[in-house]
Amino acid sequence: MPVIEVQHPLVKHKIGLLREADISTKKFRELTSEVARLLAYEATADFPLEKVTLECWSGPTAVDRIKGKKVTVVPVLRAGIGMLDGVLDMIPNAKISVVGLSRNHDTLQPEHYFENFVGDLGARTALIIDPMLATAGSMNATIDLLKRKGCQDIRALVLVAAPEGVKALDTAHPDVRCWTAAIDSHLNEQGYIIPGLGDAGDKIFGTK
Ligand code: URA
Repeated sequence: MPVIEVQHPLVKHKIGLLREADISTKKFRELTSEVARLLAYEATADFPLEKVTLECWSGPTAVDRIKGKKVTVVPVLRAGIGMLDGVLDMIPNAKISVVGLSRNHDTLQPEHYFENFVGDLGARTALIIDPMLATAGSMNATIDLLKRKGCQDIRALVLVAAPEGVKALDTAHPDVRCWTAAIDSHLNEQGYIIPGLGDAGDKIFGTK
């Protein structure tokens, strides 16, 4: 099952607060960052550790360190930018690769208009960030791009997923795991997740 609905009470509480209809831009941004931090924490739980010896106040001490993991965070423009600070709070050395995809509101298909990937993708874990997994069109297109660039460890973080998106991602990329704060009921005719959050990009950027 590539989509993992995180059950932590803090995640559930915060995603509930995000659903309030008249939430301010400031509050929406803050909560998006907080949930992104918690999703990043969950998605990195299997990173391997190694022991290194450190000169400690009490003498040489073996401490844990994450072993050889190079991470690139991949915000999908534009809404993915809203999750970037939260993920970087947890993984401050991560490099950033940007993908620009917009959804054609008539066809609901993703249109690719920008990409800027860091080097060495074959040796990196990619953490795609995009608040809403609706049809999974943008997510699958981003994963296709990363795979074409040689990336072998691809993970995704989304605030809310629709069952339709979960199925589409599972079908297209069963090797990619995606952590979400909620799997909601369904998509409406306009492609919005119900109950969802509304237009996450507009809420993060304050454009509506
Ligand atoms: N994008 C959004 O911002 N919201 C949805 O519900 C679906 C796609």
